[in-house]
Amino acid sequence: MDAFAELIRSRRTHKSFGPDPVPRETLDELLELARWAPNHHRTNPWRFRVLGPVTLERLKDAAGPPEAPKLDRARTLVLASCVLSGDLQQDEEDVCATACAIYTVLLAAQARGLAGYWRTPRVLRTKAGREAVGLPDGERFLGLVHLGTPRGEPPVPERAPLEAYREYLP
Ligand SMILES: Cc1cc2nc3c(=O)[nH]c(=O)nc-3n(C[C@H](O)[C@H](O)[C@H](O)COP(=O)(O)O)c2cc1C
Repeated sequence: MDAFAELIRSRRTHKSFGPDPVPRETLDELLELARWAPNHHRTNPWRFRVLGPVTLERLKDAAGPPEAPKLDRARTLVLASCVLSGDLQQDEEDVCATACAIYTVLLAAQARGLAGYWRTPRVLRTKAGREAVGLPDGERFLGLVHLGTPRGEPPVPERAPLEAYREYLP
């Protein structure tokens, strides 16, 4: 199997991470690659905000006791969002482009031996959670990307086979 196929197949959602944060230099490499995602009209809709300790505490306060400890799983958390224009078609395409950008970050992390987790915690769909991370009204929250060194090997989730979703039209 070629290296790229192997990278795609072996990327996993990790929920347990080592204690070290991802160095800023590495993070900038990952986030720079994100801008090469396909993007109709080149609107550059993605925004990535790396949470610092003060912001993390604010978000944990907003999440409340049962959910807050889950925000400590990885030392590096990156909030990914999409700037909305108000044009429904453009926004749909921009959300897709931002999802591609997030996947790029996950794959680039995997290629560097790092673990990733695309998470959509409920707190970031609340006003308090959005305020805690300074997410403006005109942005759609898409994910809180967890990054770090891998700890353990997550199970490989079942996937539907090719035949279940591929069709050749006449
Ligand atoms: C848009 C999006 C949101 C996700 N949100 C969550 C989440 O909130 N919690 C979670 O456990 N996994 C979340 N995931 C990860 C998926 O559950 C995971 O990709 C799936 O179980 C397949 O596992 P794999 O990534 O190891 O192949 C999310 C994935 C995507 C694409």
